[in-house]
Amino acid sequence: MTQRPVAGAAALRGTILVPADKSIGHRALLANAIAEGDATVRLRAPGRDLESTISCLAGLGIDIRRGGDAVALGGAPLGVPAESLDCGNSGTTMRLLAGVMAGQAVWGVLDGDESLRRRPMERVAAPLRAMGARVGTTDGHAPIRLRGGDLHAVSHDLPVASAQVLGAIAFAALGCNGSTTVHIPGPTRDHTERLLAWMGVPIRREEARTTISGPARPTARSLDVPGDPSSAAAWLVAAALHPDADLVLPGVGLNPTRLAFLDVLREMGVQVEVEESASDGPEPVGVIRATSCGRLRPIRIGGEEVAALIDELPLLGVAMAAADGASELRDAGELRVKESDRIATMVAGLTAIGARVDELPDGWRVRPGTARDAAIATEGDHRIAIAFAVAALAGVAGTVRIDDADAASVSYPGFWDDLDAVAAVPA
Ligand code: S3P
Repeated sequence: MTQRPVAGAAALRGTILVPADKSIGHRALLANAIAEGDATVRLRAPGRDLESTISCLAGLGIDIRRGGDAVALGGAPLGVPAESLDCGNSGTTMRLLAGVMAGQAVWGVLDGDESLRRRPMERVAAPLRAMGARVGTTDGHAPIRLRGGDLHAVSHDLPVASAQVLGAIAFAALGCNGSTTVHIPGPTRDHTERLLAWMGVPIRREEARTTISGPARPTARSLDVPGDPSSAAAWLVAAALHPDADLVLPGVGLNPTRLAFLDVLREMGVQVEVEESASDGPEPVGVIRATSCGRLRPIRIGGEEVAALIDELPLLGVAMAAADGASELRDAGELRVKESDRIATMVAGLTAIGARVDELPDGWRVRPGTARDAAIATEGDHRIAIAFAVAALAGVAGTVRIDDADAASVSYPGFWDDLDAVAAVPA
């Protein structure tokens, strides 16, 4: 593990091209791998999670050619992998790929690193089983043994508002005869629906219900995956909290199901400018700019909005520690089953940097304190590493020592270079 100290910046200025959106990238690779024809998916600075999807597809016999940002794929029938497929740290790879394999009538074993082996997999195994796939988990976890094929269309009522599970069912439904419906308990990102519809699949989302008519094969289509708004969120929060900041983020995905964190930041008093540009893909893109704001208002987050904020909650926890009063997060028990138990890792980190924090079963309560130097245990979680680097940069913490700087590369391999590029060193 490489440790990394992060100190407060004198100013934060510049333009940052954030890496390709992880959620869209996984889906674009998977859909084109099983599509009719060849396509090129352009992924700027793909993180380790996207690399996991690419290597699993290679393990399934997909012909993949790389050059710069371009990943060229030949859509072909998936083969049976010679070894278990290593999904690394990527829950999205494992869950979506389980759905893809179920729908494409192949078999294999899906495995991952220690953190991924702790994450719940019955939530995806159970609906795939209901469709007729044979799926065995290891006490509800990876490794997952899966045999696809002979699926039937089912109506699913999901207990958790998970875009990964919804996406897995949608990919599996491509191999079913008839109409599959998925009902979700709250709004989630709709990248699967947008992408598959753009590739010619009869799929639609109406409020909380997604319907897919199968069997269907996507038509291969090349695309430039937009920048990841969850990575952009790091710089927006850093700029908002820092007294002297102006950061511009071009080419960021502007899908409304991913921008709930902007509404929260605005409610806290942050000024964010968003300008949409032309897009020839399935997703809106544009430029986001954030500048310093004065005092931040405290906030309460809970209920249905949590699912739409799920990946930005660590950063919003840091913003809460800088607000003018007590803030609270509730109904976010899902954070306990992410790459780390993000309620525990955030509460420990926020307490270490001097905030006054109560851990709640489904969230946290945060009041500002006196910023101090701290050692941060990331538990190998990219979003925790990035959130506390932001806390230190913006002065919400003293100097922090991130225990595992490499963790950031799961979603954002250039994070530390971008930090060095925009952070002016104090004189
Ligand atoms: C994702 C969905 C979310 C999110 C994850 C990516 C996706 O997970 O936390 O980082 O691409 O579908 P859940 O669907 O489990 O909430």
